[in-house]
Amino acid sequence: MQVNNVFVFEHPLLQHKMHLLRDKNTPTKDFRELVDEIAMLMTYEVTKDLPLKDIEIETPLAKTTAKTLARKVTLVPILRAGLGMIPGIQRLIPNSRVGFLGMYRDHETHQPVQYYCKMPDDITESTVIVLDPMFATAGSAIMAIEYLKSIGCKDLLFGCIVASRYAVDRIYREHPDVKVFCAALDEELDEDCYIVPGLGDAGDRIYGTK
Ligand code: PRP
Ligand code: URA
Repeated sequence: MQVNNVFVFEHPLLQHKMHLLRDKNTPTKDFRELVDEIAMLMTYEVTKDLPLKDIEIETPLAKTTAKTLARKVTLVPILRAGLGMIPGIQRLIPNSRVGFLGMYRDHETHQPVQYYCKMPDDITESTVIVLDPMFATAGSAIMAIEYLKSIGCKDLLFGCIVASRYAVDRIYREHPDVKVFCAALDEELDEDCYIVPGLGDAGDRIYGTK
């Protein structure tokens, strides 16, 4: 299903994995593996418009023209939780580079605070996929997108697992050029700006910190 710049996955395998991910009884090991598998399955759709270029190759029988990706791909996980999506995506795009953005949400204001940044040198030449499983107020993703645009990135996608209605409306207003991909779209945010029903704190559930 696509609404404005947001694509919501409806594939049965993904939806099946989502019920396991949301279940509060799913243990850390299974939760981490599910994030990995869901990110890998989403990659097929997230990358469907990547540009291709011709390349001359030789098969065992003949010379021929084949297709190869025209641009590099850079994955930018928002730490911590975004990191859990990286191995699954790297299995499908093994030559992708990774840039890191560390951010946490202030508990009082719910505003993102950046604490780390390390990007590949030629990131502006690549398609950049920003990754974070949770898209709640959109504050963290929008801070990441604004930073990446400020250093010259033009080709930006955002992949998350659970998005709130509030976040998708906000990113469409503020960055309609950025395509957003999610496995679930939830209607509510609670008073702590957690997504409801959501899946809880993704970072804590991936790394077993609570
Ligand atoms: C979570 C999540 C996102 C952010 C989403 O991170 O992983 O980065 O909150 O919320 P937003 O859309 O309202 O900005 P958190 O601050 O819990 O940090 P962590 O990943 O280190 O646990
Ligand atoms: N961060 C999370 O990990 N979960 C939410 O529901 C919102 C922000």
